[in-house]
Amino acid sequence: MGHTSRRKFIQQGSLGAAGYLLASGMMRQAAAAIPSVPSSMPAILGAAPRWHAGSWVKWPMWKQGEDERLLLDSVRSGVWSRAKLVDQFEAKWAEAVGAKRCLTVVNGTNALITALNRLGIDAGDEVITTPYTFIASVQAILANNAMPVFADVDPATYQMDPASVERKITPRTKAILVVHILGLPADMDAIMAIANKHKLIVLEDACQAHLAEYGGKRIGSIGKAGCFSFQNSKNLPIGEGGAIVSNDDAFIDSCFAAHNLGFAYGTSTGAVAGDSFMKASKVRLTEYQAAIGLAQLERLNAQTDTRHQNAVYLSSMLKDIPGVKPIRLYDKVNRGAWHLYSFRYDPTAFRNLPRARFIEALRKEGLNCSGGYKVMHTQEFMRDALQSRVYKAFYNKQETDFAKYKERNACPQNEALCNSAVWITQNTLLGSRQDMEGIAESIRNIQRHADKI
Ligand SMILES: Cc1ncc(COP(=O)(O)O)c(C=O)c1O
Repeated sequence: MGHTSRRKFIQQGSLGAAGYLLASGMMRQAAAAIPSVPSSMPAILGAAPRWHAGSWVKWPMWKQGEDERLLLDSVRSGVWSRAKLVDQFEAKWAEAVGAKRCLTVVNGTNALITALNRLGIDAGDEVITTPYTFIASVQAILANNAMPVFADVDPATYQMDPASVERKITPRTKAILVVHILGLPADMDAIMAIANKHKLIVLEDACQAHLAEYGGKRIGSIGKAGCFSFQNSKNLPIGEGGAIVSNDDAFIDSCFAAHNLGFAYGTSTGAVAGDSFMKASKVRLTEYQAAIGLAQLERLNAQTDTRHQNAVYLSSMLKDIPGVKPIRLYDKVNRGAWHLYSFRYDPTAFRNLPRARFIEALRKEGLNCSGGYKVMHTQEFMRDALQSRVYKAFYNKQETDFAKYKERNACPQNEALCNSAVWITQNTLLGSRQDMEGIAESIRNIQRHADKI
């Protein structure tokens, strides 16, 4: 980058992001993201790409020295099974989310499996969830031998549509598994009202929604319990890891026993001859994972602010491009976690350029993007579950007939969304304000030259 553009970048600032980038040593990466040769031609037609692989903040982020102190101490101590650092991480995560208690587990999938299990979800129950989610949300319901029932989505917000949720309630419905997809809060007021009216449990799948806020509350602290993932791509990455948060002591104590072979909360996790009181698995986090988590947690709040500010800025530009509909937030959302940024793409505004080709063109610009989720309830894993012995025993012929299941769970809005969404990865939102302008400019260039692509 030349002196002029560097000065311009510093002068313009980036909604607080530049200060953060400077402070965190990410300036070099962000600076490299600014195009040195502005081009009005898309890269797919031969122009130089706007960004290259090193332009973006590397994810997961790791700061030598600073991040390594706790990790090295923990590895050198030889105390690797859960102990003080896991306790410390749990206390900090509960505080960060605004919940009374937190229990860590090996990943988000097992956080959901354990939480559903301890909430009493079992064979013969129905759990309403969204089809627009990562498969783990659904596998967690199946792992408890319950029936996933899909409510359709609101195409503007991508979140589960409360009206559709209410239509799917039957006498067998026990819980709503609300997923804050892409890290953006679902319509929690409406969902909680439906749950209260029908006496249903609400479990929040907040696996993508670290520190997102709705109505002044942190996501994960609104329902009966919330589950988080700390998998490598997540906004708080540990590689693998998960957590359950709740204000209910008895529930978290019960989750603790479930994650530790049925040994009661407060008992030593290294016990070989304790008294176990329940059938349970063992899905404990390690000390060195907690050490990584504690280092990542230090910067999560500032990064969340940066992502939110950049996402809002990006949407303010994309909304003016015909055929591009940025994802909408509910009015009560104070802050999104923006695990992914997304907009819906309408090929008719791009000379019928197919979405896959549009994404290819954006990737050629150097942007990390994809088409997101595929329709899920028609996949083979569902047939596998419905044909299993336990499903045959607890559900009737109609319920376990895969063709009928697919029909009952068809969600047309979700299907349209799966065919029209474009996702951009969260580390993109840690770029500069100029990067956001570059994304809008790239899309406009692709549109202008769509007939040649
Ligand atoms: C919405 C959602 N639910 C559940 C999970 C499962 O988390 P994990 O990958 O940590 O098992 C993920 C993450 O991958 C997710 O995105």
